[in-house]
Formats: sequence, C-alpha cells, structure tokens
Amino acid sequence: MSIKDSLNKENIPSHVAIIMDGNGRWAQERGEHRVFGHTSGVESVREALKAATECGVDYLTLYAFSTENWSRPKEEVDALMNLLVETIANEIAELNENNVKFMTIGNIGSMPESVVKAITDGVKSTENNTGTKLILALNYSARWDVANAMKIITQKAIDGEIDPESIDQEFIKQYLSTADFPDPELLIRTSGEMRVSNFLLWEMAYTELLFTEKYWPDFRKEDFFQAVLEYQQRERRFGKVSEQVKAVNE
Ligand code: IPE
Ligand code: IPE
Ligand code: MG
Repeated sequence: MSIKDSLNKENIPSHVAIIMDGNGRWAQERGEHRVFGHTSGVESVREALKAATECGVDYLTLYAFSTENWSRPKEEVDALMNLLVETIANEIAELNENNVKFMTIGNIGSMPESVVKAITDGVKSTENNTGTKLILALNYSARWDVANAMKIITQKAIDGEIDPESIDQEFIKQYLSTADFPDPELLIRTSGEMRVSNFLLWEMAYTELLFTEKYWPDFRKEDFFQAVLEYQQRERRFGKVSEQVKAVNE
C-alpha cells in the first residue's frame, strides 16, 4: 500500500516548496563528479511532480538555482545551465501530456540567453495547461525578491501612484515574484541541512518545515507522500492556542 492511500484528502497542502539539496554529496559518495548528482536529480524532480499531481497539490515550487549559486566553480555553474536548458526542452512534451503549467520565479532576465530561451519556450508552450503548477526558482533569492519589490513600490510612491500609508502585507505580496501563488503550507529540504538558504523568506512565515536526511537524487514519490503525511500530523496554530484551533476544526 502506498502512503498516498493514508493521506487525508481534505488536508492536502495546496503549495509545497522543496529545497532540492545534496546532489554533490550524493555523487561524491559514489566517487563521481558533483555534476553526476545534478543529472541524477532530474529523475527526482519527475517523481516529486508526479507525486504532487497524484495527491492533489496544486503548486510545486522547486529551488533549482540560487543567486548565491553563481559563486560555485565555473564548470559546475556551466554544467547546471546546460542541464537546465536540456531538461526543460526534453520535458516540455511530457509536461503538456500531464497538463502541467511550467512557471518560474527569480531574476530570469539576467540568466544566460540559452536558459532564458528554454524557459520562455517552456512557459509559452504550457501556458494554457490547467493542472499542477510547476514553479522553478532560478537565479532566485528571497532577499533579491524583496529588494526588487521595494524598488518597484518606492518608484510608484515617488510617482504619486500610491500612498505609502496604504502599504500593508497584502500590498507587498503583489510585488513579489510569488504574487500569483498561495504561500507554501509545507517546505521540504533534503540532505539533512536545516536552513532555508534565502528561499521564500516572506512566504514562509507560517510554513511547516520538514527536513529529511535523504539526498535529493534518492528522493522518490513515497518520500513526498511521507512528507505530506507528516504535515497532516502537525497542528498549525497561526499564533492561536490549541483549543481555538480544535474548535474551528470540529
Ligand atoms: C543542490 O545540491 C543543487 C544545487 C544547489 C544546484 P548541491 O549541489 O548543493 O549538493 P551538496 O549540498 O553540495 O551535496
Ligand atoms: C540551496 O542549496 C539552493 C538550491 C537547492 C538551489 P545550497 O546547497 O546552495 O545551500 P547552502 O549553501 O548549503 O546553504
Ligand atoms: Mg547544497
């Protein structure tokens, strides 16, 4: 029996975010180059997407390349960019078959031209799909996103288009690259590291965090279902006390 069958269908997170970590260590433990870990991780992306779709998660955001990852050795960065271009091109047909809408967050415009083109093609080709939203975070960092939002908002204030008094949390959210997505209810990070590494800082205010020791290339559908199961065992209180939460759920 799959763990999927024991999930409460009434309490599936609408948005799951994953920090796909541990590719390099996975490869190195096998005496391979780090890049082998990245290429092997593509299968785990397919698995996570299938699992999300099967259990009814609407939005799956995957942290694929951070702003800080540019400071890795050039060979690794180049290999990652090539892998991105190849993978997006290879997967478009299947994404369409499965009605998946491919989207991105991050500073895409300043990525290499070949990557921008692959992303633009992928986004365009899947834009009318109505199933799971697969969101890749590329050249993304949460602080970049917040700084970018502040730039836009400040300019609007200078131009007299908005009154600074009207700026509240909902207003700020509209200018983040995640504006169209609900905040993730669940964040999974693989590889045993317990940090958020500049991912979705604003959106994660009340996200349930789940850390697993598995390296990303070993991540499979059952691991995703297991994470959702653990999420369902948490009590999300949003600042209230347990009795209040239970009263609402009864
Ligand atoms: C995650 O795996 C993939 C990216 C950050 C692009 P890592 O490459 O960080 O693997 P480890 O953490 O070094 O093992
Ligand atoms: C976070 O992983 C970024 C991605 C998974 C794309 P890192 O491996 O870059 O994070 P740190 O450096 O260990 O915090
Ligand atoms: Mg890492």
